[in-house]
Amino acid sequence: MSQLEEEIWRRLGQVMDPELHRPLTELGMVEAVRLHRQEVTVTVKLTIAGCPLKARIESDVKAALAGLEGVSAVVVDVTVMTADERQKLTQELRPLRHSSVTRDGSRVRVLIVGSGKGGVGKSTVAVNLAVALSQLGRTVGLLDADIYGFSVPRMIGVDRRPVVLSDDMILPVEAHGIQVISMGMLVDEGTPVMWRGPMLTKLLEQFMGDVMWGELDYLVVDSPPGTGDVAITLAQRLHQGQVVLVTTPQAAAAKVAVRVGEMAKKVGQRLLGVVENMSYLRCESCGAESRLFAGDGGKELAEALGVPLLGRIPVQAEISAGGDSGQPVAWARPDSEAAQVFAQVARAVEAAAWEVAAAAP
Ligand SMILES: Nc1ncnc2c1ncn2[C@@H]1O[C@H](COP(=O)(O)OP(=O)(O)O)[C@@H](O)[C@H]1O
Ligand SMILES: [Mg+2]
Repeated sequence: MSQLEEEIWRRLGQVMDPELHRPLTELGMVEAVRLHRQEVTVTVKLTIAGCPLKARIESDVKAALAGLEGVSAVVVDVTVMTADERQKLTQELRPLRHSSVTRDGSRVRVLIVGSGKGGVGKSTVAVNLAVALSQLGRTVGLLDADIYGFSVPRMIGVDRRPVVLSDDMILPVEAHGIQVISMGMLVDEGTPVMWRGPMLTKLLEQFMGDVMWGELDYLVVDSPPGTGDVAITLAQRLHQGQVVLVTTPQAAAAKVAVRVGEMAKKVGQRLLGVVENMSYLRCESCGAESRLFAGDGGKELAEALGVPLLGRIPVQAEISAGGDSGQPVAWARPDSEAAQVFAQVARAVEAAAWEVAAAAP
């Protein structure tokens, strides 16, 4: 092999598959490198036909070889693995599947975002918290456990299906730096999901056991409102689940949230803290805070449960607009007050998650 070819392979060894998080060369995805005059042709084998990441992989390969002396053009030739090749890769990856999420002794912190009532901003908090934690340099997964009322795909701007390598190996979809899985990626929007308890439990089990999460620092779980099957399944399957309770300042919302808090304790989840959402409105011209709801629900709830108040989030049009457009405010508008508040919540969560873990037996 010439020195130039060696250098080409070395550089290709740094191109990662965006969803398997391993170098293409290691995954057997680089079939050949041909050098003709000054033109390099790299043949890349994708895991499945119509791979949604085709364009991304192509451009990453080109970027890796850009500016290489003695190379004036890079052509990426894309083919697809045969069923046998895919099976072989699946076998090789299988040991990695029992990932950080369900394995004992892993470093992952599972953050279950819950609330008593719907509509208090649980999904909004889950998505922006996940983004804010990833901005602290952490590796973050986001599991949408709200099977019937999923909203994560829209909020984070994902409209494609996950790559399924085999029926027990699903790759989470990457968006805004985090890895996401949701029922909403598996059914068409507008299709009502009407599954019974056991099927729902099975799907959740799959999301935890068959999704290749890799080594995560945090798995943020957006859960459906209230208590129930989902909460119990999550508690049984996820080690060290820690609950972040979302409430509004209204006393009623806080009261329901207390029940969720007690339920969490019952099933063995730790309560990490409380996030109060829709706490205040900031006047655009004078900067004063005004309250929309009577009550001090977040603080009262935190006190009642003996956990910290992790943050107070204002009502802002850019927060809901970010959710509607798939551009979470924590990502798209990092200088906004909302993004700063989510960053603060992420830091508070990080401090509390560490404290709780350290205090655990
Ligand atoms: N702090 C906020 N400021 C403005 N709009 C918000 C805020 N929090 C939530 N919303 C909006 O309220 C609605 C309900 O929020 P969502 O996160 O879906 O609640 P839940 O998951 O608890 O049902 C969404 O349209 C969302 O954009
Ligand atoms: Mg929701």
